Amino acid sequence: MKQSKNIAIIGAGGREHALARKFAQTLTWENVFTLPGNGGIPNSHMVNVNDFEELERFCMCNSVEMIFVGPEQPLAAGIVDYFKGKDIKVFGPDKHSAKLEASKIFAKQFMQKYNIATAGFEIFNNLNDAKYTIAKKLGDLVIKFDGLAAGKGVFVCSTVDEANDALQELETAYGKELDFIIEDKISGDEISIIGFTDGKSIKLLQASQDHKQLLDGDKGPNTGGMGAYSPISGISEDLMQKIQDKIINPTLKGIQAEQMDYKGVIYFGIMVKDAEPYLLEYNVRFGDPETEVLLPALKNDLYEIVTACLSGELDKIKFEFENAYFADIVLASGGYPKSYDKGFEIKGLDDVSKDTLIFHAGTKKEDGKILSSGGRVLNIVCKGKTLNEALENAYNEVNKINFKNMYFRKDIGKRVNKYLISRFNSLKS
Ligand code: GLY
Repeated sequence: MKQSKNIAIIGAGGREHALARKFAQTLTWENVFTLPGNGGIPNSHMVNVNDFEELERFCMCNSVEMIFVGPEQPLAAGIVDYFKGKDIKVFGPDKHSAKLEASKIFAKQFMQKYNIATAGFEIFNNLNDAKYTIAKKLGDLVIKFDGLAAGKGVFVCSTVDEANDALQELETAYGKELDFIIEDKISGDEISIIGFTDGKSIKLLQASQDHKQLLDGDKGPNTGGMGAYSPISGISEDLMQKIQDKIINPTLKGIQAEQMDYKGVIYFGIMVKDAEPYLLEYNVRFGDPETEVLLPALKNDLYEIVTACLSGELDKIKFEFENAYFADIVLASGGYPKSYDKGFEIKGLDDVSKDTLIFHAGTKKEDGKILSSGGRVLNIVCKGKTLNEALENAYNEVNKINFKNMYFRKDIGKRVNKYLISRFNSLKS
């Protein structure tokens, strides 16, 4: 039943379009504001969401009762703390809890303190001090800048030269004195486990897998994500239980022991090696493009889940999922993640099948036309009875859309068929 509660979603990408659509299924599009949104999200409004006073004014003028925060920056900047004690509720962790994503050092120390399965690490605050560790590990390591760096602060290295190049890049950006960590590199299969927490329990959505590198075969530079699928049928109950015991449960214990004010989304970036899970990172928000395949599969009312979290009653909700696979192909601007041209008209959006979901990311509307305006431009999401069917449907629909310099990966979801299933289940204990 349609209700008349106004909410505001903060953010401008495909994740926020998927969130807005999900909320609008049980509210109405008139009730769901997206700030600033983009050219494809109905009811988008150009508001400076980093200016919390401006945001508050917008919310008051539009009777917004609740804010759902898409990206990490407003959480790290303290949006939850700003609105505490006011009439508008904000769904997300407070500034201190958001350090689980905003500070790699804070997160690793938390993982260590609560005995969460993760890679070994050392903390540094001067680039010169890292030389010995790099030489000792023969460059086979991961370097992580402590703060938020929009995906540009993590360097996965295989050689001393690569590690030294990473240090050089950090020095150019921040100078020699900066906080960072060096972590043991764990090679395996990376999966995203995303759920909700009210601080008393954590409830998970289905597992998903992002494709972070630009080129087919997982080659080329890291991006925000070039495609995703869900669920991952190869994950055994045995592996899921290990993830629960070694990562999720101790995380909840830590949140409670530290008395964190955390009512929001929690994202576990997990590497699976020899059927053992290791936590690579926390994010304190939904993943993008994972959200675009997770929310279409979720049968529950998202507004109900969020209000249950805010009132500490998440345990009353039972998640239900559609019995189908979802695949998302990201259409990007050629040149992304480096420089790219934009402003190209997107054609074919009306030609896709009625079951196709198109989530806009970097688009804008001008003179009735939709133009590309960012690196990741569109997400094309289809479902199927099998993963292969979902992928085939999505790639068929992708072929109907075009804009100048459009680029997309041709191998989304392919690695699961090739080897993931056997690797997830090898070495069963
Ligand atoms: N898909 C990875 C992220 O959202 O951080």
